[in-house]
Amino acid sequence: MLQFKNNDLCIEQIKLSEIAIKYGTSTYVYSKSKIIKNFDNYKKALSPKEGFICFACKTNSNGAILKNISKLGAGADVTSGGEIYRCLRAGFDPLKVVYAGVGKTSEEIEYALKSKILMFNVESFEELDLINKIAGRIKLKAKISFRINPYVESETHDYIITGKKGTKFGIPYEDALKAYLYAKKKKNIVIAGIHSHIGSQILKTEPFKLAAQKIKKAVAEIEKNGIKLEYINCGGGLGIEYEKGQKAPSVKQLMSELFIVFDEDKKFIFEPGRSIIANAGHLLTKVIYRKVSGGKSFLITDAGMNDLIRPTLYKAYHEIIPVKKTNSKKIKTNVVGPICESGDFMGKDRMLPVVNQGGYLLITCAGAYGASMSSQYNSRPLIAEVLVENNKTMLIRKRASYKDLLLNEIK
Ligand code: LLP
Repeated sequence: MLQFKNNDLCIEQIKLSEIAIKYGTSTYVYSKSKIIKNFDNYKKALSPKEGFICFACKTNSNGAILKNISKLGAGADVTSGGEIYRCLRAGFDPLKVVYAGVGKTSEEIEYALKSKILMFNVESFEELDLINKIAGRIKLKAKISFRINPYVESETHDYIITGKKGTKFGIPYEDALKAYLYAKKKKNIVIAGIHSHIGSQILKTEPFKLAAQKIKKAVAEIEKNGIKLEYINCGGGLGIEYEKGQKAPSVKQLMSELFIVFDEDKKFIFEPGRSIIANAGHLLTKVIYRKVSGGKSFLITDAGMNDLIRPTLYKAYHEIIPVKKTNSKKIKTNVVGPICESGDFMGKDRMLPVVNQGGYLLITCAGAYGASMSSQYNSRPLIAEVLVENNKTMLIRKRASYKDLLLNEIK
């Protein structure tokens, strides 16, 4: 929901320059109506089937964002005890919470069981043993799916492919039946379904379809052995258009292709994160200084890699837009942060109009894996977050102070 009104870039009905003045920079800014629209796409596409959408809250775990998403009827995909805590605080129904992760600790498992979450997505035999043991000790039953690694290749950054052979994720495809037969013998385990996740920022439907075909085959084999599966969890992973020229399939297209494969009557779970929140959130930053060095033009912003690490970590592209439109000619510009590393950049060699010192830039589509991956590196306090609805703004995270930097430190 970004658009220029006259020469001012606006989010919903509000000028971004006004937000910068009111809340300071750098600040994450989210559009509520965009979140609702993105979630609605999933809800509608799933409607021919039974099931629900679990928001992958690792993408953005701000309490107000989670609360708004839970109000839409979403469930949650969590990966830690901390995320369970956040989700319950945000009002998610525990019976719509699914818990994946290769390294769940005893404490996290016990907390999840006591929180009565819907199910664990179990990623190893040893994890299953531990869940069974803890459930027995506290006299509860644990509902589980196995996360099966379907061995599917997809075109995305190497760090975020999860469903190919040789990654740490899930149960190896060839061991799927063995895992279910093993789980069937466990006293405190209730088998509920099957799960897979192939990776993130995937822009084609093909790998999802291949994974679905493999999971369908596994389901048939498991059910042939007398084990009934109630849920099929298709994971998350649909990419978004960060850059001009990229084309993401629609959620409707993805699901209609998947439901040709999965023609059975099961309950379906999807765990999207990025495609719900990425293009609903942006990082608003100020140009502190400009300089030319070694023949290159630099804009130095008050946002750094500690605030948004995606360009540094994945060489990710985020479009950068000055919030005031001008007629100036475009020059090749490097937008960099203030941190003491050459890897601290937001965008390299971008054709941007001249922006003056003190001007504001919007680093777009940073709503997913932006704030949630930020840190206090270089002792930079965590930045503010603002939610916009029509012409109203709401501060949803205060900018941290220097004092906050010392929180929990013991001298
Ligand atoms: N479910 C599971 C089990 C996952 O591991 C993930 C993401 C999701 C769902 C959500 O996937 P999405 O719909 O957001 O693609 N930090 C990286 C992305 C890491 C993805 C990890 N898993 C980035 O900034 O690109």
